[in-house]
Amino acid sequence: MNKKVLLFGICIGLVVGLMIGSFGTIAVNAANGWLTGSVEEKLDKLASIQPGYGIMMQQIGLRYNDLYFSAKSGNWGFAEHQADEIQVILKDILMVTKPKRNEDAKKFLAASYPMILDAIKKEKFPEFEKAFETLRNNCMNCHISQKVEFVKLKKPVMSASPVLAGVK
Ligand code: HEC
Repeated sequence: MNKKVLLFGICIGLVVGLMIGSFGTIAVNAANGWLTGSVEEKLDKLASIQPGYGIMMQQIGLRYNDLYFSAKSGNWGFAEHQADEIQVILKDILMVTKPKRNEDAKKFLAASYPMILDAIKKEKFPEFEKAFETLRNNCMNCHISQKVEFVKLKKPVMSASPVLAGVK
C-alpha cells in the first residue's frame, strides 16, 4: 500500500475513533441525567458546583495546621509546600470562582506573602513562629471582615497529615 494512503487511513481512523469516544462521554452524562439542557445551562450547572469557601477553607485549615508542625519538626520542604498550597487555593480557585471576597483575599495575600515563605527559607523555628502568628492574625482579619468572626483560629496543637504522623 502507498504510504500516503496508509497515513490517510490512520488519520481517518483516529478522527472517527475520537468522535465515537466523545459521543460516548456525552451519552454517559445524559444517562446520568444531571448535565442536561442547553450548552449555557450546562455551563451554569458546572459553575454552580465549583467548591466554595466552606469546602476550601477546611482544606486551608488543614494546611495551616500542618504548616506549623512541618516547621516545628524541621521538615521545611513540606512547610513550603503547605504555604504554597494555601496561596494556590486562594489565588487559583477561590479568587477565580468566588470573586466577591477578592478585596479581602488580596489584602491577606499582600500581608502574608512572601513573608511566610521567607521565614520558612530561614529554617529557624523561633523566627518562623513569629511569622506564623502574623499569618494567623491575617487569616482572622478576613474572617472578621467577612462576618465569620466565630472562625477563631487557635494555635495548632497536633499535626493531621500522615507525613507528620502525630507530631506535636
Ligand atoms: C478572603 C477571606 C478569607 C481569608 C484570607 C481566610 N479565610 Fe478562612 N474563611 C473565610 C470565610 C468567608 C469562611 C466561612 C466559610 C463559608 O462562608 O462557608 C472561612 C472559614 C474558615 C474555616 C472554617 C471552615 C469550616 O467550615 O469548617 C477555617 C478553618 C478557615 N477559614 C481557616 C483559614 C485560614 C487558616 C486562613 C489563613 C491561612 C484563612 N482561613 C484565610 C474567609 C477567609
